Amino acid sequence: MLIAIALISAICACQATATPENVNSSVPLIPRKKLFGNPDFTYVRMSADAKLIAYLAPYKDVINLWVQPLDHVLKKQQTAKPVTFDQGRGIENFQWTYMPGILIYSQDKDGDENWRLWKVNVTQEPFEVTVLSDTKGVQANIESKKPSHPEYIIIGLNDRDQRHV
Ligand SMILES: *[C@@H]1O[C@H](CO)[C@@H](O)[C@H](O)[C@H]1NC(C)=O
Ligand SMILES: *[C@@H]1O[C@H](CO)[C@@H](O)[C@H](O)[C@H]1NC(C)=O
Repeated sequence: MLIAIALISAICACQATATPENVNSSVPLIPRKKLFGNPDFTYVRMSADAKLIAYLAPYKDVINLWVQPLDHVLKKQQTAKPVTFDQGRGIENFQWTYMPGILIYSQDKDGDENWRLWKVNVTQEPFEVTVLSDTKGVQANIESKKPSHPEYIIIGLNDRDQRHV
């Protein structure tokens, strides 16, 4: 409730000050794309062994998953590789597992919002992708993972009642 009130007053404040008469025309407008477009990259995460970073960034204008060795990032080398090539809704989240080079991400098919979990091994190209959950109409989420058991993750499925996500 407090947030809503704060936002409304902020919008009112903008409208009050940004009238056409007092817009300083020598100050360039912020392009719409910068405010509402895809970020250059986001959700940067380092692998457990600190060798790789993964992040979300556009591939052909759709947010996809990318990886790059950390030492290349530090040397500003342009060696990032896309892991996914989604052209629908894009990739919204992923996690590193505690296994070296193993990422888990969720991706739906053609925007159907049935998030399937995929495992990808990015230690060697071509990246090896395996689907972990592929039941139609069922959403899958990572519930837990532990460094003491790197080879396991716990996945939650809403297969008994699909109202629960
Ligand atoms: C408009 O912006 C320019 C550049 O920032 C500044 O030099 C100028 O003083 C501003 N004019 C007014 C009327 O605020
Ligand atoms: C990932 O790929 C590397 C290189 O092919 C391999 O050595 C490693 O065992 C793979 N990891 C898993 C968990 O499959």
